[in-house]
Amino acid sequence: MGGGEKVLMSPALIGFALCLLLSCQCAFAVKSEEFRKCHEASFCRRNRAKEPGASTFALGGKLQQAAGGGLSGTVINKDFPGVELPLEISAYGDGIVRVKVTEVPEKKRFEVPDVLDEGLDSKKSPIVSARSSKDTWLTLGGNKLRILHDPFRIDAFVDGRPILSINGRGLFNFEHYREKPANISEEESGTWEEIFKSHTDSKPKGPASVAFDAAFINAEQLYGIPERATRLPLKPTKGLEGAESEPYRLFNLDVFEYVHESPFGLYGAVPMMMAHGAQGTAGLFFLNAAEMFIDVLAKAEHMIPGLEDKSRIDTHWIAESGIFDVFLLLGPTPKNVVQQYTTVTGKPVMPQLFSIAYHQCRWNYKDEADVNAVDAGFDEHDIPYDVLWLDIEHTDHKKYFTWDHSLFPHPKEMQNRIAAKGRKMVTIVDPHIKRDSGYYIHEEATAKGYYVKNKDGNDFEGWCWPGSSSYLDMLSPEVRDWWAEQYLLDKYKESTLTLYSWNDMNEPSVFNGPELTMPRDNLHYDGVEHRDLHNLNGLLFHKASVEGLLKRGKNNDRPFVLSRAFFAGTQRIGAIWTGDNTAEWTHLQVSVPMLLSLGVAGISFAGADVGGFFGNPEPDLLTRWYQVGAYYPFFRGHAHLDTKRREPWLFGEPYTTLIRDAIRTRYALLPYVYTVFYEAHKTGLPVMRPLWLEYPDEASTWALDESFLLGSDILVHPVVTKDAFQVSAFFPGKEPWYEVRTGAAHTGAAGKAITLPVTGLESFPAFQRGGSIIARKDRPRRSTTQMANDPYTLYIALNSTGAAEGLLYVDDGRSFDYEKEAYVLRRFTFQNGRLECSDAAPTGESAKGFALPNKIEKIVVMGLPKIAEKSSTFRAVLGDTDGKIQLESAVEPPVMGSGGDATALVIKRPWLSVAEDWSVQIVSS
Ligand code: NOJ
Repeated sequence: MGGGEKVLMSPALIGFALCLLLSCQCAFAVKSEEFRKCHEASFCRRNRAKEPGASTFALGGKLQQAAGGGLSGTVINKDFPGVELPLEISAYGDGIVRVKVTEVPEKKRFEVPDVLDEGLDSKKSPIVSARSSKDTWLTLGGNKLRILHDPFRIDAFVDGRPILSINGRGLFNFEHYREKPANISEEESGTWEEIFKSHTDSKPKGPASVAFDAAFINAEQLYGIPERATRLPLKPTKGLEGAESEPYRLFNLDVFEYVHESPFGLYGAVPMMMAHGAQGTAGLFFLNAAEMFIDVLAKAEHMIPGLEDKSRIDTHWIAESGIFDVFLLLGPTPKNVVQQYTTVTGKPVMPQLFSIAYHQCRWNYKDEADVNAVDAGFDEHDIPYDVLWLDIEHTDHKKYFTWDHSLFPHPKEMQNRIAAKGRKMVTIVDPHIKRDSGYYIHEEATAKGYYVKNKDGNDFEGWCWPGSSSYLDMLSPEVRDWWAEQYLLDKYKESTLTLYSWNDMNEPSVFNGPELTMPRDNLHYDGVEHRDLHNLNGLLFHKASVEGLLKRGKNNDRPFVLSRAFFAGTQRIGAIWTGDNTAEWTHLQVSVPMLLSLGVAGISFAGADVGGFFGNPEPDLLTRWYQVGAYYPFFRGHAHLDTKRREPWLFGEPYTTLIRDAIRTRYALLPYVYTVFYEAHKTGLPVMRPLWLEYPDEASTWALDESFLLGSDILVHPVVTKDAFQVSAFFPGKEPWYEVRTGAAHTGAAGKAITLPVTGLESFPAFQRGGSIIARKDRPRRSTTQMANDPYTLYIALNSTGAAEGLLYVDDGRSFDYEKEAYVLRRFTFQNGRLECSDAAPTGESAKGFALPNKIEKIVVMGLPKIAEKSSTFRAVLGDTDGKIQLESAVEPPVMGSGGDATALVIKRPWLSVAEDWSVQIVSS
């Protein structure tokens, strides 16, 4: 890509060429040389080349009790006498420790705002410390932290076992801000000015990297640090026999046609890692939004004195600037680590019900007639959907918040027509603002000085979809507030309350910038360089848009904004998707580990473009993608401008029926999925989970990433290869798993996977956990709105003792009233043939101002022992507290499932109320 100051082509020409290139990308794959490698970034080169054992950093003096809790002190660099770096150590409960090293306030190092949970400070707990001449021990409940004084090193112990050590290998480095030397030696090349391709980074503050090593003791697998298209367990990048790989990179970029199986960083970044092994789990979160590289070593090298470390995994974290702000998450289980991480960065949003249903998107639905035809197509083919999306072509020349009236002459009527069917619309709103003197957003932003500046202090101009564009400075709270106002109904002309939003290109994508993004020496609010906040940029824009919907939301709606770029904490803001994938089987495969990795790092509400964005999927690939996508937390079909149309009914039979079945399965499961989202909102646990998160002691699950769990009760072994006739299926735990379609039961085979036949495209292996009860709404409808009053069917999957349990969370699906206890949380339990329904909300809570009229229309009990012969008669008896019979319901005899030995007993039409307490006894006579 040409660009920057050195281009010779006119900007208009470049813009045109770039737009052309980007809109006909099908023929191009990612060009890795366009993106910077570690050896091309002086900060990474310098730190990666360091030999272990060379730390020059030591504790400056005694640690003191700090005001507001915690301890404070200094860290010194013995190579630079006189430089004292303030150190703070804080604890939040027994499981979270924060260690922060920065520079004195006058040096103004950038500290990342808007990421930590607002309530975090109030959770600070006191630390008891004991000092010797060599080290200081801190006690946090049953856990301990040892701060070694010289060299500065931190070891964490859980129940007496070492689990984590920082600077054990002596790679800690904090490059303090310094004066520019008169002569720059060869060794220092790239420290004060750096050139990549045709772009010069002026680096006025010089070298400012922050790096450290972290050793995970007794760990066997590492996970986390999304986003990249790779397997879930992180492979080593250094110390390998033969060719070394690039380190993992965290730098939000618009990487078009990304390849699967690459450590390359994509659109979002979460500098959070989790380590797991037989002895437990630990995590690390590095709060730093600058470009970052992370090495994972193949072999532990250099003994860490005084630590027992049989199976250590060493990592090396290298950030270009910012501060050292590290949270140690002490576990000891994987669930504890995710909960600790989301205590620090916030719990995921509670989405509106419609937003976890099916979304139909395409670049672009051409005009109003097209919108109406697609909407009608779903109804004609009896396929439910909830949201229709409009991409950039709906605007007047890519001026966001406007409409191209030649294509969309009646936007309001169009939205209202869709809304009358209980559906919603989404329009795209990107962060690049067209530099057009007639565009009110540009006029106002220019007049108010709201744009990001270039290094010389002028409004930065870059190229994106509209041509010449400028970029709002979302670091400024004032700009965010102003942006939020643009969503008000009287500002966003012809918008309605059923219109939601989509933020794309917010890495930010700058077609003629270095690596297709913004120059690092651009300037933000308060003189902050872009390099310091780059990975936070997308989150800030996403947050401002969400604030816009909140401002607009007179009806108390929960906002919904989808974002492409993200950072740690995005889970508090909204949904994301994995960007521009391709219609290939490998991309369907990699979508699963990508989403699992996001969930481990706290970001649950995520999905991949169903069908693949680039290219044209064969009908079998599209069908398989819908079957997997039905279990993604965020479920949206999307396609590039140049692809053939692929609405679910366009491929004919059997595909239409199979895609319809897949989407209907998602709708039937929505009561369960919504309950899992509620659990995620309360606890931080991911919606889509790797098996080891639920079964941490089963070593055979640790490397599994093609299978996944939705919540704890649904296990999916997706079919992600062409013409598959079998899948390898691992059934964790000792209890049976029941096939969702047939009720056939399968049980784990002593830590080994089994081979399951795949009989045809209709066969899709998804299972319900034995021991669980799932509430479904099985009546097919047009959208979630029409399902509101539908009755439930309870699917009871018995464990080996004939018992099961499950929760159902319901609220109005839309507003914030659930925060005022307007919800119901019901518990179903089954034991000894008795099913009970009771309240599971914390005492005194729930159902304030929320009535749940829905009844249960059917109860299916799977896994009854074989005593259930066809000749037996069963009755379901509902008694009141005096033992009087209130209801007797006919029970269908157990039927044989296709698995041969499965039995399912069906109680038809019991019409029990979900909101009331009752119990039903199944009796045979
Ligand atoms: C890039 C996005 O990733 C894609 O989803 C979108 O369709 C195009 N930009 C056009 O807006």
